[in-house]
Amino acid sequence: MTTKHFAQLVALIFSLGGLANTAHAQCDPFAPVWATVTQEQGGDRPGCRGCHIGPNPASGRWFGDTEEDVLAYFTSGAGMILVSGGRQSRLAEALGLVDGIPPFMPRFAPFDGRYWVDDPDQGLTELTDLGNWLDTIDF
Ligand code: HEC
Repeated sequence: MTTKHFAQLVALIFSLGGLANTAHAQCDPFAPVWATVTQEQGGDRPGCRGCHIGPNPASGRWFGDTEEDVLAYFTSGAGMILVSGGRQSRLAEALGLVDGIPPFMPRFAPFDGRYWVDDPDQGLTELTDLGNWLDTIDF
């Protein structure tokens, strides 16, 4: 195989890998949201761990600890009220997805903690991911 062909093969393999990731995100729209909410809170971080997410209730409503529990909390538990309405829900308001309503979570942001953003330069699609998942909520 020539170097050029080898380079083309490598490029093909990478693009197939990218497709697989996209397909995964589409079949589980909660996965990227979970990745953001489980980050630590405070500093320049956008997460909710230590308050709403963790092994035990801490501060504010307790969403749960595992991905399965937290998803169930929102889709069939006490948290349904927070996601009802999808992109117009309380959760969407809290994180800054609703036009005209400034985000108010993570708590203490922007002084301690960081609001969610879409920032192509940093490869961040936090609000887009949130919207994609909220689009799957039909109550
Ligand atoms: C430092 C602790 C802390 C962090 C971090 C935090 N929250 Fe909160 N959150 C609270 C508290 C306390 C309340 C209730 C009082 C208030 O609204 O300030 C609350 C309220 C909320 C509400 C409104 C609940 C209702 O009943 O209407 C939502 C939604 C919410 N938080 C989502 C989040 C999400 C999502 C994150 C992470 C991205 C986050 N919060 C990070 C402490 C926190």
